[in-house]
Amino acid sequence: MNARDARVWPQTASVDDAGVMSIGGVDVRDLADRFGTPVFVLDEADFRARARLFRDSFDSAFAEIGGAVDVYYAGKAFLCSAVARWVAEEGLRLDTCTGGELAVARKAGVPGPKLGLHGNNKSDVEIARAIEMGVGRIVLDSLAEVSRVAEAAADAGRRVPVMVRVTTGVHAGGHEYIATAHEDQKFGLSIADGGAMRAIEAVLARPELELLGIHTHIGSQIQDAAAFEASARKLLALRAKVAATTGHLMPEVDLGGGFGIAYTSADEAIDVPTVARALADVVDSVCGELGTPVPRISIEPGRAIAGPSTVTLYRVGVVKPVTVGDGEVRMRTYISVDGGMSDNLRPALYGAVYTARLANRVSTKVKVRSRIVGKHCESGDILVSDIELPADIAPGDLLAIPATGAYGRSMASNYNAVPRPAVVAVRDGRPRVIVRRETEQDLLLLDVDDEAPDAP
Ligand code: LLP
Repeated sequence: MNARDARVWPQTASVDDAGVMSIGGVDVRDLADRFGTPVFVLDEADFRARARLFRDSFDSAFAEIGGAVDVYYAGKAFLCSAVARWVAEEGLRLDTCTGGELAVARKAGVPGPKLGLHGNNKSDVEIARAIEMGVGRIVLDSLAEVSRVAEAAADAGRRVPVMVRVTTGVHAGGHEYIATAHEDQKFGLSIADGGAMRAIEAVLARPELELLGIHTHIGSQIQDAAAFEASARKLLALRAKVAATTGHLMPEVDLGGGFGIAYTSADEAIDVPTVARALADVVDSVCGELGTPVPRISIEPGRAIAGPSTVTLYRVGVVKPVTVGDGEVRMRTYISVDGGMSDNLRPALYGAVYTARLANRVSTKVKVRSRIVGKHCESGDILVSDIELPADIAPGDLLAIPATGAYGRSMASNYNAVPRPAVVAVRDGRPRVIVRRETEQDLLLLDVDDEAPDAP
């Protein structure tokens, strides 16, 4: 792999002279034989290194301005109890946004104060569970939630730390569906229309709530620091305004997640130390201008920690040459694999572009225009739309698609009654299942027909 390609693959991935890929010191052919395909192969060392890079880069950049940072790993990118434990071991906190994610955190033994709870429509049960677990903060997403959380806090006899999620009007990131801080969408409270200020005042009026600060998440797959800097300015200005009008100086500001990664060698990935330093500089200078002390900062990266750590291995099935017209592309080889939009919805949902390579052998054949497709019953079931792959790819070969660690398994479905793949962590030559493959039996256990003639 050349240097640009290497950014797309997990740090321990390598390819030998025979064209065989290994990850974490484990031959992918052995992984496929032992665990089946499709399978998510998660390079534990890569995941941990990225978690540490965020923690160390932000710690050192903000230490220089006399500040401190909490890094919350956004569990929505990919969460299971092994991952929650790694995150805690690497000194990060964990951001959750449902009761289910809280349950995983609890199973992993993550201490409540190291957890945050998000969500634009939290249920009473989720709020009560978060309070009972003693989470470090609940991020309030609406005015109605201020009194709901305050009442739940009163019921539990606890004072609950909260943040208020605001929208800054800074619109950043990739696809419209993953941009979150512009005005016309469901998250947070607007600074511009005064909703954010009303919620903050409502929190301050409730003694059951401790106002830690304000939060914003401006979008996902953001490639440069400028959008984060712009939103930091807005948050710090709001914090100063709140201090001036209410006398309460909020101790914390959360800048959210959204740090971009390279999915293909054509993409830029955000440089974490550079962004950390840029944000520290902005926070320092803006606080200086405003005459307010530097707040404790938090960030919530998900994709940039989980995404590049994982490769999906697929087994090739049908290979079909298709005549596509008399334009520039005349023929395309359709390579069907044994998964598809049920294990990676991102190409179908966001038009996300991935790359792939033959992983079980070398090929010296000429490369031909190819499309990697899944096994589902729709033509949009495409994993890689346009890629040059060796002309001799054949049934039984293994294809590896990198950068599938974020929003892959976590958004997987059972479409067409397909069981969801396993996640296998690899480290130092040792594979370990951390999410087992679903079986048809798992699916049938959910299937209830108590009026069938032979029902028990
Ligand atoms: N914090 C909050 C409040 C969020 O809503 C999100 C992502 C994150 C942090 C983490 O963002 P990240 O660093 O992973 O970009 N399914 C989409 C992404 C949706 C992101 C939702 N929120 C995708 O596959 O691109």
